[in-house]
Amino acid sequence: TVTPPLDIVIFGGAGDLSWRKLLPALFMAHLHGRLVDDCRIIGVGRHEWGREQYVSFIDKTSRAHVDVEALQPEAWKSFLERLDFVSLDATVADGYRKLSAACQEGSIKVFYLATSPSIFTDIAHHLNTTGLIDAQSRVVLEKPLGHDLTSAQAINEAVARHFKESQIYRIDHYLGKETVQNLMVLRFGNAIYEPLWRAPYIKSVQITVAETVGVGTRAGFYDHTGAMRDMVQNHLLQLLCIVAMEPPISLDPDDVRDEKLKVLRSLRKLDLSDLRRDTVCGQYTEGVVDGERVKGYMQEADMPQMSQTETFVAIRAQVNNSRWAGVPFFLRTGKRMQKRRSEIIIEFSDPPFSIFSGQLAASHPNRLIITLQPEESIQLQMMAKEPGSGMKMQPVFLNLDLQSAFTERRAEAYERLLIDVIKGRLTHFMRRDELEAAWKWADPILQGWKQLNDKPKSYPAGSWGPAASSTLVARENAVWAEAG
Ligand code: BG6
Repeated sequence: TVTPPLDIVIFGGAGDLSWRKLLPALFMAHLHGRLVDDCRIIGVGRHEWGREQYVSFIDKTSRAHVDVEALQPEAWKSFLERLDFVSLDATVADGYRKLSAACQEGSIKVFYLATSPSIFTDIAHHLNTTGLIDAQSRVVLEKPLGHDLTSAQAINEAVARHFKESQIYRIDHYLGKETVQNLMVLRFGNAIYEPLWRAPYIKSVQITVAETVGVGTRAGFYDHTGAMRDMVQNHLLQLLCIVAMEPPISLDPDDVRDEKLKVLRSLRKLDLSDLRRDTVCGQYTEGVVDGERVKGYMQEADMPQMSQTETFVAIRAQVNNSRWAGVPFFLRTGKRMQKRRSEIIIEFSDPPFSIFSGQLAASHPNRLIITLQPEESIQLQMMAKEPGSGMKMQPVFLNLDLQSAFTERRAEAYERLLIDVIKGRLTHFMRRDELEAAWKWADPILQGWKQLNDKPKSYPAGSWGPAASSTLVARENAVWAEAG
């Protein structure tokens, strides 16, 4: 059989995400021979550009985001030859004929919508009326998918008029990270964890996604988004799902997504009266990150005055089902934190009875520490006997450094997910009901915060967030594990 040509059409083709992430990811796929010869990448945007200008724009901007060692001049040049650009206003029907003309005869089309979600509906509609969609086409929807449940439903509804659910790839790039996918193997490919992976053997779960970056040039987007919509509703909840879900019956997309959906549906809803106790919002002020003095959030370029947008969130979540009853899931994310670090910490319960009376055991529970970035590792903290006479204990670590265990090239999340789209693999993408269930949990929190109208607590850039976040976990005798 002859492989049909492939057209990857990127709406928002000159946007941040495209030149920072998508084009570099596609280059890596090209370099490693994972794109068919007849694969074209068509940027779409409002700039009045032709192909040449787009090529030189990508050449200038994306190059710096490609791994230097991978940047072989010949390969980069042949990659740029795949590019094309169609100048159009995505909300107006006219330009779509040009897009149609730019696509190859009989191609499989991947439409990547990396624009504001407010125009997803228009795009889907115009693609359809121009006859660009067929049974082979796929559409990739970038986050944030909507601003709340209602807008997310409206987008899903509109896109569903033109694409079947099996053609829709709702992307959450955290699901493309090697270590996140590895979490499923850790849990379900090893026999030793699963029996203990529940209450009462697990005391608490911590999920941290800490970033050192600020909002940079994204004030316009970020200020009406905030950390809850930007990170928690999607990335952190997806991590929580993988930690908490029941073993799926197979890796088929719907089997995995059915289990994640159940977790989302069993999340305890937070009422207005819970919010001041179970959530903390913060906003960074001036401070020092990695030895460099940085501005506070309010002083960032193009920031409206008196913004109440949160750049830090900590939440005590709870999964109300029989596996997890009573186990707190502490979620935390923030910009301008002390270290860039994403990790999941499973804290096990103390031994039921200690024969080592008066010793440290209680303050050093067993912990499984899964670090997603910057390094990829799994550590198990356990107690060992300190050499010498007597029975003195010390916490020590069993260390698995995944980067040295596997020396193969590790594709970036976007590359892996783009290949999945091309191959038609949906497992690592969110289904409609899943996305809406995540909003059903997040929406009341967002609305409650608005109603309470509390100012986010300030925290200096370069810290671990407002002090209240430590109080939140301390209530349940937990402490955030600050990265050493
Ligand atoms: C994006 C958010 O989805 O994820 C950004 O919009 C954030 O604000 C980014 O910086 C973090 O991704 P990563 O892969 O760098 O951890």
